[in-house]
Amino acid sequence: FTSAAINIQRNPSFSKLNSDDICYFKSMLGDKNVVQDEDRLSAANVDWMRKYKGSSQLLLLPRNTEEVSKILRHCNSRRLAIVPQGGKTGLVGGSVPVYDEVIISLASMDKIISLDKGISPFTIQHSSFSVNGILICEAGCILENLNSFLANEGFIMPLDLGAKGSCQIGGNVSTNAGGLHFIRYGSLHGNILGLEVVLADGTVLDMLGTLRKDNTGYDLKHLFIGSEGSLGIVTKVSILTPPKLLSTNLALLACKDFLSCQKLLLEAKRELGEVISAFEFMDSGSMDMVLAHMDGVRNPFQSSLYDFYVLIETTGSDESYDKAKLEAFLLRSMEGGLILDGAVAQDINQASSFWQIREGMSEATVKAGAVYKYDLSLPVENFYDIVGEMRARLGEKAKVVGYGHLGDGNLHLNILTTQYDNNILAQIEPFVYEWTSTHRGSISAEHGLGLMKADKIHYSKSPETVQLMASIKKLLDPNGILNPYKVLPQSMLQ
Ligand code: FAD
Ligand code: MLT
Ligand code: ZN
Repeated sequence: FTSAAINIQRNPSFSKLNSDDICYFKSMLGDKNVVQDEDRLSAANVDWMRKYKGSSQLLLLPRNTEEVSKILRHCNSRRLAIVPQGGKTGLVGGSVPVYDEVIISLASMDKIISLDKGISPFTIQHSSFSVNGILICEAGCILENLNSFLANEGFIMPLDLGAKGSCQIGGNVSTNAGGLHFIRYGSLHGNILGLEVVLADGTVLDMLGTLRKDNTGYDLKHLFIGSEGSLGIVTKVSILTPPKLLSTNLALLACKDFLSCQKLLLEAKRELGEVISAFEFMDSGSMDMVLAHMDGVRNPFQSSLYDFYVLIETTGSDESYDKAKLEAFLLRSMEGGLILDGAVAQDINQASSFWQIREGMSEATVKAGAVYKYDLSLPVENFYDIVGEMRARLGEKAKVVGYGHLGDGNLHLNILTTQYDNNILAQIEPFVYEWTSTHRGSISAEHGLGLMKADKIHYSKSPETVQLMASIKKLLDPNGILNPYKVLPQSMLQ
């Protein structure tokens, strides 16, 4: 979608880039980090889904906080709008420009600064382990690289998502990404101990604490977690990383109906509580889609008759106990009729092939044609109803599939068509938002609002709350240069 298609006017108070701006940026960053090359710009202007497209003429690659600060100070004084860009895997059009905003990519800020070893490192089974596991790094570090670094030190990142190979920790923080291990390790609001953020006027806010407990005044870092680059640019992150545990087990299960999946979740929480690390869900339409569009992904079951699938992962510290516990749970669930069929991964390769099915969903939706994506938080009882209602509304015109993080009450409702069509969109929206609001759900569980849902926030937040958000935005970014047209309705900010 270009800005014209989504009907947003360019904010006339923003300036246009001139040659003096370019000279200033080049003198400060060096020619190499001031990108005007057409091919690189066209890649940076379009999002991962190839759905949102801007027309920026400039991509900047700062190498440190000071450079980010100088860029913002200049842009603010010149009223040049900017868009912070991480790994560009966001799914709501937040990370690409709408018009000619200057793109500030964090890709060159990818240093790991420290891993707090607490008391001096000690040795377990010939490896050195640190004690506290507090990682401090720059915002441009790629999630998967952080995880690999930590694995050698006996820790893991508290979040994991299919986009791990490209998304950056700064992007994760800015979207408050949830992901596959949320059920175990919770939200980034709990795991982020500190941030360094650059405000619109170039002020550097040092909130890079490493303390677990700190109740001195308002905890401002939380404002920036999930604010999608609209309040400041995250430059450094301090994050609590859990120990890497020794045993992981993964089961892919088939269930006859959604009620069985729901009951299975309840039972799993009760019986596997202390070891459960993922409880993911997909319907047969999602399974068919991923098998059809992702090379190398296979259904481990002979039959394709099953309507629902669940992926349960457990992570613990005692290999034989954890495995026996999961197997006993699966046996009981099978005898009780909650599970029709199932496979427990026998080795790391099989486990990764099970994860490929679930993690391949996003890419499959994009390969399948045009996709309307909705990321809903819903009470578990109503979780799947919207899929059936949407199918009834759209009939043959679209394929409606549902997958997601059932353990967290987060449904990814995906509507697949051959091409984007306003008539189909009119049948989906505002129905999907009204339905979610009526069920007291959230229209953005984990992806954020971005450009896609900036004017839909009122379906999930009261007018007073949205008004206060707009006041905070105006206070921190009076010229509105940070990621304009995103997160909040434009009409409240101009
Ligand atoms: P970008 O897409 O570059 O940016 C996202 C937003 O954050 C934009 O508004 C941008 O302006 C802002 N931003 C980026 N970096 C900064 C910064 N340093 N400072 C300030 N603002 C910044 N999301 C989930 O929550 N759970 C999932 O399970 C999940 N799975 C995914 C799987 C796939 C295959 C894909 C493609 C996406 C998935 N996502 C998921 C969505 C996406 O990956 C996450 O939102 C991710 O956190 C975005 O990180 P990024 O670095 O790519 O950010
Ligand atoms: C997921 O859980 O796979 C992601 O959030 C991405 C998506 O919704 O497609
Ligand atoms: Zn998700």
